[in-house]
Amino acid sequence: MASMAVTIAGLELANPVMSASGTYGHGLEMRNFAGPSSLGAWVSKTVTRKPRPGNPLPRIAETEAGFLNSIGLENRGIDAYVRDVLPEMAAAHAVVLTNIGGESVEDFAELAARLDGERACHALEVNLSCPNVQGGKLPFSTSPTMAEAVIARVRAATQKPVFAKLSPNVSDIGEIARAVEAGGADGITAVNTLLGMRVDWRTRKPALNTIQGGYSGVGIKPVALRCAWTCVRAVKIPVIGCGGIACAEDVFEFLVVGCRAIQFGTASFTDPGRIGRLAAEMSALLDAHGIASVTDLIGTLHVPNTLAKVPGAPS
Ligand code: FUM
Repeated sequence: MASMAVTIAGLELANPVMSASGTYGHGLEMRNFAGPSSLGAWVSKTVTRKPRPGNPLPRIAETEAGFLNSIGLENRGIDAYVRDVLPEMAAAHAVVLTNIGGESVEDFAELAARLDGERACHALEVNLSCPNVQGGKLPFSTSPTMAEAVIARVRAATQKPVFAKLSPNVSDIGEIARAVEAGGADGITAVNTLLGMRVDWRTRKPALNTIQGGYSGVGIKPVALRCAWTCVRAVKIPVIGCGGIACAEDVFEFLVVGCRAIQFGTASFTDPGRIGRLAAEMSALLDAHGIASVTDLIGTLHVPNTLAKVPGAPS
């Protein structure tokens, strides 16, 4: 059987499959669908300093190829997370990336410091890119200066690996990737949701209370793949691919462009057990193609020599 183990930013994972933040609770709420050992790592829903009720309903709207959300970072805050969630994750020997969110650089730094002593949290994923707070302005993921500042403060506050979760809602994601690398990130998650909206033309009303929200699901896979590939080419730190992944073949596309791991998200809403079966599906597909290790796929994209001459191509 093909080897599925990967290492990323010093984390040893049984396989490259992670849950995408916000799509699978904090993790073990979903244990009836996916056992603790079935995923390489579990990424929490974004945790903030204080509890947040989230945005008013409606905050989910289905679309042709995925859905829009405007949850607004609903969560019970860092105290409840540390008290109630981390001990359960530790008991299950799960590898945990805690996703943190804030409204200021200080918020991020404080959360990083608070989690630094928590052994059940193996790494931080810094949510620079939630489109559903601060009016969709994305202050931390559209400005290289702000992105670097947040990551530098988080870096200074923790010994744990730090992943920066970036937004696709920018003109040059490579520039933001270089900024978070300069700030001290150990890795990048590419990408969060695309800003989108839906309306009912009959009632003239928007589908979401906040009018616009984050679009995710299979429809965004080509956009996410291009963003991930651009990040891979822009930086030396590893990249986790995220966006529209629904099956083993999708995972392999992200690995071939150079990602070392992936996150599986919106597809869990239609089949919550799929994420737990994904590593076995990947292993069978590798065996069928005579590939000994999942790592043999990473960064193997054949890029035509002429690419260098294409105006605007990532260098
Ligand atoms: O609204 C939300 O809670 C979404 C968060 C995110 O996309 O990071």
